[in-house]
Amino acid sequence: MAINIKVRDNGPYLVEGEFTMTDAQGNPIEVKKAALCRCGGSTMKPFCDGTHSKIGFKGANEAVQEADPGAQSSGGTSST
Ligand code: FES
Repeated sequence: MAINIKVRDNGPYLVEGEFTMTDAQGNPIEVKKAALCRCGGSTMKPFCDGTHSKIGFKGANEAVQEADPGAQSSGGTSST
């Protein structure tokens, strides 16, 4: 089964499929479905605990979709 990552509006990343997460020590955490925090407020990181709705988190996914993909490969140089 392919892994699917869905960005929830103003919420977590929903990850579905068969995958293995590892903790900071490299210990595997086998999961088939996870909601990963992207607001930074969860007390259960990397998992979402619902804090995003309490702190009024606003996701930036629309800004990313509108970004110019060519800007990523410009080498990061500036003309200023
Ligand atoms: S995205 Fe839900 S607590 Fe951070």
